[in-house]
Amino acid sequence: MHAWICDNPIGPDALTWKELPTPEPKAGEIRVAIRAASLNFPDLLIVQNKYQMKPALPFVPGSEYAGVVDAVGEGVSRLRKGDAVAAFGGMGGFATHACVDAQLVMPLPEGFAFDDAAAFICTYGTTHHALLDRAELKAGETVLVLGAAGGVGTAAIQIAKAAGARVIAAASSDEKCALCRDIGADATINYSTANIRDELKALTGGKGPDIVYDPVGGDMAEPVFRSIAWRGRYLVIGFAQGAIPALPLNLPLLKGASVVGVFWGEFARREPAHNAKALAELAGWYADGRIKPVLDRTLPMPELKAAFQRMGSRQVRGKLVMTNP
Ligand SMILES: NC(=O)c1ccc[n+]([C@@H]2O[C@H](COP(=O)([O-])OP(=O)(O)OC[C@H]3O[C@@H](n4cnc5c(N)ncnc54)[C@H](OP(=O)(O)O)[C@@H]3O)[C@@H](O)[C@H]2O)c1
Repeated sequence: MHAWICDNPIGPDALTWKELPTPEPKAGEIRVAIRAASLNFPDLLIVQNKYQMKPALPFVPGSEYAGVVDAVGEGVSRLRKGDAVAAFGGMGGFATHACVDAQLVMPLPEGFAFDDAAAFICTYGTTHHALLDRAELKAGETVLVLGAAGGVGTAAIQIAKAAGARVIAAASSDEKCALCRDIGADATINYSTANIRDELKALTGGKGPDIVYDPVGGDMAEPVFRSIAWRGRYLVIGFAQGAIPALPLNLPLLKGASVVGVFWGEFARREPAHNAKALAELAGWYADGRIKPVLDRTLPMPELKAAFQRMGSRQVRGKLVMTNP
């Protein structure tokens, strides 16, 4: 097998593409011949030593991938050699093969393309948990999505629309805003050029959005929170901008609003049955054509450094997918 190795977590430039012995699955594991793996923002943070989880060195990055089961460890009965699967294993995906706990694998229904499947579990799982479970989104409510042209952002537009919401998508360029409208956003705000508070006031008749979905953090959080509706829910998804914002606590008081934390990986670990139910619902929505990952581009696996460069420089629209022949 081949894999990208991180033995010095100072950023993507230090990764090396190496030939390694193909691993055998342990009890409870399967081995996947990887067809496609997608980039999630934490994959970049991990190789920069900036993520909350700090794996022992050396490690193979790549949290999410899809492919075909090519070996099965002792005690695994629900999967067989030849099954198509998607996995969120936390690591190991930027490679040709990976061994993973069979519990972390989603068998793929027929017709689920590998490129889409590799770009599915984390972004849609996170967003389903955030909007429908944590924020209890109701049809007719208005959802503001920040960083809306990115991986979780595009999933948030699609899931909010599928749940009957009105979606305001906010992003840093007109081109990103156009993509958001193409995939269903009802209105957009370019926050590089417009005053987001004025725009939100105009777009909601002064009421503000019921739900804010924020994967960006930084200096936009407080002004946006000041615009939230009465009984609003502010979903803390991530901090792609780098800075973790602080919020004066009088603001939630004045709006009767909630700051709602979202940690999908921990939710999936602590509440596997709930997560499996959500993923099954999402797979049904994919089959019906209600949701579909937006793929920025697919690149051959050996071009991972170029993909990380694209993600780190804020160019990605939707998801980046690495493929093996
Ligand atoms: N809570 C959870 O369970 C969970 C699960 C998955 C991901 N996340 C988090 O969600 C965030 C987004 O992840 P993603 O995979 O969707 O990433 P992504 O595709 O790269 O999207 C991030 C978006 O953030 C915006 N951004 C603002 N400043 C940026 C900067 N300095 N560098 C890069 N992007 C910047 C960009 O949009 P504009 O250019 O339009 O501003 C970009 O489209 C990350 O912080 C990640 O850790 C959290």
